[in-house]
Amino acid sequence: MFTNQHHLKHLLRPHHYTSEEQYRAELRHLFHPAWHPLAVKSDLAKPGDFLTFDLLDTPILIRNFDGELRAFLNVCPHRHSRLTDTARGNAEKLRCQYHGWEFNKDGGTGKIPDAKAFRPWDRDNSCLRRFRVDTCSDLVFVNFSEKGPSLREWIGPLWDVWQEYGGAYRHAGTWEKDFPCNWKVVLENSLESYHIPEVHPYTFKDFPPEENAWHELTDRFTSFKTVPPREFATRAQDWIVRRMGEPVTNEYWHRVLHPHATGSSLDSFRMMQCVFPTGPTSCRYRCIFFTLRGHRQNPLAWALYRALRSISTMIAKKVFAEDGSIYAGVQRGMEVSPHPGVIGTREERVYHFQKFVLDNTRGPRELPLAPAPEVEHANGVCAE
Ligand code: FES
Ligand SMILES: [Fe+2]
Repeated sequence: MFTNQHHLKHLLRPHHYTSEEQYRAELRHLFHPAWHPLAVKSDLAKPGDFLTFDLLDTPILIRNFDGELRAFLNVCPHRHSRLTDTARGNAEKLRCQYHGWEFNKDGGTGKIPDAKAFRPWDRDNSCLRRFRVDTCSDLVFVNFSEKGPSLREWIGPLWDVWQEYGGAYRHAGTWEKDFPCNWKVVLENSLESYHIPEVHPYTFKDFPPEENAWHELTDRFTSFKTVPPREFATRAQDWIVRRMGEPVTNEYWHRVLHPHATGSSLDSFRMMQCVFPTGPTSCRYRCIFFTLRGHRQNPLAWALYRALRSISTMIAKKVFAEDGSIYAGVQRGMEVSPHPGVIGTREERVYHFQKFVLDNTRGPRELPLAPAPEVEHANGVCAE
């Protein structure tokens, strides 16, 4: 059921998908305050495990310090080198690759080669910049802001639902891809089922009728639910899920927590997708994919899990590639379009998303932020 019964205004104008100014406003007001799902706990299971990312003009390093996850700006306070250029690995110490400064879990310095050369020691300017890191079930989130809502507060109404990224579901893979389009092109595509007949003619075939499409539109998120038709693939999935000892709902859910965290699910999988701007007309899509493992330990359950993981991953990547084939064309059209655009009732989540973007990036919100408060350092321990 749709909330609106009449078409809606396309609130964003083409320049919102191309301008440097809008890009900067979105980084500042939408992305820097947000929590970003970047990894899973099993990526960082052992002490010394680390991952690095380049997101939102920011190099990030997440590391396991004896069981505690910590995230830092991947830039050394000595002479600005990245601490490491390795995407993932394990190292006994967090040590800069250039001159070997070592850092502890608070971002303070440990061993400094030839330390006497730095007398008197400038403690305040020798700490790594720390980011907040937290987990929701098996998902690892990072936040660039020193202050703001906790992860639990930020996820808010979806906290219980997103506990399912773990438990009966097991991480099956993570993939990412860069696209030559504004990030909102990708996100808006995910918010509507209207494109299904043209873009997914064989995988999904048709969009569901209105009576089988439920939308929820709130300040924090929008969602879509449908019950897929009882075709062979659906019946096969139900059979497998039952044999694995898990409940069958046969519901498909898609929820986007503003601005970008996108959780979708069937009984057979849980998927967390995110799209990050990498420039005004480019973005990076990242997907963390879980498939059903269930709790049964018998050989049949294990074999079904392996089959489900392989088939679900293949289908998810196929759908992802189909969507990916349209983005560049949308962006190219957007850049020269003389039209105001229009949004149908089936696309009402797009309208809601556009309103969120405008409300949070125009007017007073475009004013520069107040300077960050001075951070105090005490006893060589960097402030939280
Ligand atoms: S730049 Fe990192 S130790 Fe010199
Ligand atoms: Fe799609």
